[in-house]
Amino acid sequence: MDGDIKQRLAKIKKDVESYIDYLRENNVTEIISFAGGRKGNNAVSGRPPVSAAGRSVPPAPAAEKQAPESPAGPPEEELEAIAARVAACSKCALHKTRTKTVPGQGNCRPDILFIGEAPGEDEDRQGIAFIGRAGQLLTRLIVRMGYAREEVFIANIIKCRPPNNRKPLPEEMKTCLPYLERQIAVLKPKVMVLLGATALDGLIPSNVPGRTISRTRGKWLEYQGIPVMPTFHPSYLLRNQSAMWDVWADMEKVLAHLGRKAPPKK
Ligand code: URA
Repeated sequence: MDGDIKQRLAKIKKDVESYIDYLRENNVTEIISFAGGRKGNNAVSGRPPVSAAGRSVPPAPAAEKQAPESPAGPPEEELEAIAARVAACSKCALHKTRTKTVPGQGNCRPDILFIGEAPGEDEDRQGIAFIGRAGQLLTRLIVRMGYAREEVFIANIIKCRPPNNRKPLPEEMKTCLPYLERQIAVLKPKVMVLLGATALDGLIPSNVPGRTISRTRGKWLEYQGIPVMPTFHPSYLLRNQSAMWDVWADMEKVLAHLGRKAPPKK
């Protein structure tokens, strides 16, 4: 096949994949043709249906929550596509006050995906997750574990800074979650570390009364078959230095699971 045609086909394929992702993230389950009729079974996800024109359509029978489909393209491109959609996102009010979106960054096939709460002031200004004081502490922890920051992936439950660093609202977390879900499907981390209660509640909600990060940290959980270790948030460690021992104990479990040991202290 002529190289030019090949290139154009590859571009069309990418655009179609990106459009399907867009539909999935916007909960579109049916495409209603411009002529008004429904063409066959056009479902693209098990989520509540909205017509292509944005109108509600009668709900489909309850569908089980499914893992996002396996990504089609190379992970770098998939992650870039997610970041581009995040940058254009206006699904909640946080887009009005953000400076930059903070999709997360790092190795696209990481051993570990660290997930925090939300961008703070520094992150909002630079568009990079965990670069403020809490981020510097996280970086020291990652290095102490024997990794470089670029070898892991670092993200947050929500991708835009809440004003005055308030906690993200449940609705904001729910709205933003599909981006993180998609990132997880692309990254396929061996382990995920949830930093703090917001990350825990955002990714693995629970009705168990009295579930706190203090009681849950250090115990393995699971998300879509991926082992998950909840631990304290670095901001908490900045205020409670003795909790560092707990976090280190949790990270030793993570390293043991990965068949690694922390390098000797210099
Ligand atoms: N910076 C981040 O990127 N996330 C947090 O949760 C805190 C600080």
